[in-house]
Amino acid sequence: MTDSLKCEQVPYSALATEYGTPLYVYSQQAMAAALNQYQQAFASLQPLICYAVKANSNLSILRYFAQLGCGFDIVSGGELQRVLLAGGDAGKTIFSGVGKSKAEIEFALNNNIRCFNVESLAELERINTIAASLDKIAPISLRINPDVNAHTHPYISTGLKANKFGIAYQDALAAYQLATTLPHLKITGIDCHIGSQLTDLSPLIEALERMLLLVDKLAEQNIELEHIDLGGGVGIVYQNENVPDLAAYATAVSQLLSGRKLQLMLEPGRSLIGNAGGLLTTVEYIKQGEEKNFVIVDAAMNDLMRPSLYQAYHNILNTCPTTADEFVADVVGPICETGDFLAKDRTISAQAGDLLLIQSAGAYASSMASNYNTRCRGAEVLVNGTEHHLIRQRETVPDLLASEIACL
Ligand code: LLP
Repeated sequence: MTDSLKCEQVPYSALATEYGTPLYVYSQQAMAAALNQYQQAFASLQPLICYAVKANSNLSILRYFAQLGCGFDIVSGGELQRVLLAGGDAGKTIFSGVGKSKAEIEFALNNNIRCFNVESLAELERINTIAASLDKIAPISLRINPDVNAHTHPYISTGLKANKFGIAYQDALAAYQLATTLPHLKITGIDCHIGSQLTDLSPLIEALERMLLLVDKLAEQNIELEHIDLGGGVGIVYQNENVPDLAAYATAVSQLLSGRKLQLMLEPGRSLIGNAGGLLTTVEYIKQGEEKNFVIVDAAMNDLMRPSLYQAYHNILNTCPTTADEFVADVVGPICETGDFLAKDRTISAQAGDLLLIQSAGAYASSMASNYNTRCRGAEVLVNGTEHHLIRQRETVPDLLASEIACL
């Protein structure tokens, strides 16, 4: 590697010098290209693409996707506040999640969101009651658990009977019937989300087929739907995964939806931002343990939890020209846990002071970051061509302590 390694036209080394490390770096062009792939592949269906805010909720990222025409998939009142602050359209925002609170439902209703993806009968009743108290009609879709195996990591697989998500497939008709009796609800659609980092198309298609069977049964009972929402997007390449081809996905979906008057909605997160971002980190020490070598860097599991939590692989590049020999090492952070690692048994050439780029860290990295070990969350930078903008300041210890009270 040479230090000409760049994000668009900006050398990573210049970004690290200006903003310090750990630093999340995002390419605006890569975000636009990823969205464009969906827009092109699904063009004939004119879907509403609702970017899943949880993947990366930085206000500038949201603003950019809003400018490109995206709606948003949110899972909390906080995420809705972000969307609104970023200039997103509430009318293109859908609210998913199993545990929406009364305050969150009120907030969403008062902002006239597009629809609630409802996950239980109790939630249907709660939304109806709150809508009545506000003298509103709440648009709802039912999230159905299609009971298909998404073949992904168990923590991010959501469409199986054993998962907490959605309304059981066999209870779906009864749930829609209940919804028709609740006067402050308007049934607008049906949705499912079977999991994340999907590397196989067939479960997505199987889920759609199962949902369409339900759509037909509902039509027999005069329950007509306006939209169908297929949940999150396809997986991305972290290492050498064979990820689904969006065009093939779109073709299969078009065939299944042809002749139906259902608006398609999609909620991709990872595939719009994951490979548009990286995490820059500086090597603090090289340590030779008795059994293993360690490359100790200034980023840690609090900055990128995915390796520790899901045994996820993230490719790591050394941005500095190096003549040092390669060796096998764990790349680890300063946190006092054995589970604090960013890579295991990685062949790498690195010395203290080198700048490493942890790739594919645009999604579920900064948005899952924590302050464990009283570590300040890293800064974030958005690159566009030769320009770069700070989109989140590095936290400071006074920021972290500001909300704490030493009462004794
Ligand atoms: N819609 C719903 C209802 C979701 O729960 C999710 C992700 C998405 C859409 C977006 O899915 P995507 O297009 O990003 O696959 N922290 C984990 C991923 C958790 C995904 C949770 N739900 C990770 O780092 O792999």
